Amino acid sequence: MELNLLVLCYLIGSVTFIVGLKMLSNPASARNGNLVAAVGMFIAIIGTIFLYEDNGQKLGNYSWIFAALLIGSVAGTLMAKRVQMTAMPEMVSLFNGMGGACAALISIIEFRHLAHSTDLATADQTSLLIIMLGLIIGSVSFAGSMIAWGKLNGSIKDFAFKGQHIINIILLLLTLLLAANNIINRPAQMELFFYGVVVLALVYGIFFVLPIGGADMPVVISLLNSFTGVAAACGGFLYNNKVMLTGGILVGAAGTLLTILMCKAMNRSLQNVLIGSFGGGTSSSGGSTQTGGTYKEVTLSDAAVVMSYANKVMIVPGYGLAVAQAQHVCHELEKTLEAKGVEVKYAIHPVAGRMPGHMNVLLAEADVSYEKLLEMEQANEEFKNTDVVLILGANDVVNPAAKSDPSSPIYGMPILEVEEAKHVIVNKRSMKPGYAGIENQLFFQPKTSMLFGDAKKALQDLLAEVRNL
Ligand code: TAP
Repeated sequence: MELNLLVLCYLIGSVTFIVGLKMLSNPASARNGNLVAAVGMFIAIIGTIFLYEDNGQKLGNYSWIFAALLIGSVAGTLMAKRVQMTAMPEMVSLFNGMGGACAALISIIEFRHLAHSTDLATADQTSLLIIMLGLIIGSVSFAGSMIAWGKLNGSIKDFAFKGQHIINIILLLLTLLLAANNIINRPAQMELFFYGVVVLALVYGIFFVLPIGGADMPVVISLLNSFTGVAAACGGFLYNNKVMLTGGILVGAAGTLLTILMCKAMNRSLQNVLIGSFGGGTSSSGGSTQTGGTYKEVTLSDAAVVMSYANKVMIVPGYGLAVAQAQHVCHELEKTLEAKGVEVKYAIHPVAGRMPGHMNVLLAEADVSYEKLLEMEQANEEFKNTDVVLILGANDVVNPAAKSDPSSPIYGMPILEVEEAKHVIVNKRSMKPGYAGIENQLFFQPKTSMLFGDAKKALQDLLAEVRNL
């Protein structure tokens, strides 16, 4: 009876993961989707703690289990509540690293269990295979995620040396060979070799992520996230635990799809992200050589007039809007213009900002209606009927070199075709380039005017001017 109840808990858990994931694909239902999956996870955890039995024995150790649950829940809640929107990728990386560490620890514990309960020379090879897989993937994910976390919070600098990729391949091959030897030959020194695999996989995880540019970390984190999912699925196999298996496979598949989508939206192969030097800087502050010609500036009052008397204004948010935390004043400007009869919409590029859905989350924080957000394809249809495009801290995602300059590193990346509109106003602090480190010819086009300044301050001043008209 109790076992059936546990199976039911796992079934509910699995279904809620799938439903929750589906709900996450729409901004309007994403919050509830997260909640639905969390409730399912809670049911699965509580079910395991109180209903799981091994040879008629319950788990026990309740004080340890609940102390760990309490510490983890309090730490996780506090971190999630305090995190700044711009620091979200680094928190995801840290949490992902914890998942990888858990998967690797499960493998270590189960290996020790196996070593103490049977003779390793005759140990079941399927169990050994799953233990090794979970160990390697989990360790790589843990070590890589910790490096990604350090890079994103600025405590670890990009580090690469000549021939590093060859050393990485050798390290990976050594790890796999040692693990394969343990599984196939079951040598007498298996315990020693097992810990050798742990060390090699950890070193590989560090070396794998170290040379990758800080700004490429979101793609790497998404990839490592899929690794963690697969490592957790190995744990599911090991324990014959369906909910762990389902959860792991879902995370693995979702992480892989997200990695592919991000690479596609940046028009780069995964190989280029992992071993290319593009985007090596950690911020948009790289030096720029101004070779594009002359640009013109617009005054706040002129910008306010053009926008107030327009029929349609399209706002293009980018990384700078998030840095300036100007989403609330941006929403105020939108409402003020709408009150004057101007139609205002937002054009969202899939890789604007520094993490998937960055602009959607940022604008949702300011209560901007989802209906106002246009995806890139829809926005590109509408630019030709748009009077004013207001670009707020975006750069690469509106760079026409992606279409016109085959020598550009972003050539082929789909962009927001803002130059189709009648006027383009660009707000940023200087003429410095964005993430890709390249100049933007859009800024020098006759229909473009620059409105320099921090996005929050510039928008506050612009809002005051618009209100005065
Ligand atoms: P970027 O091309 O990085 O440009 C951001 C611009 O914002 C900079 O040129 C900067 O110019 C300006 N800025 C910074 N702080 C500002 C502030 N306080 N006020 C006003 N402006 C400010 O951003 P984007 O157009 O959003 O493009 C995103 C880039 O990141 C793409 O190349 C994409 O491939 C890459 N990327 C995205 C992701 C995801 S998943 N979103 C992941 C990895 C990489 P100033 O310094 O002159 O102000």
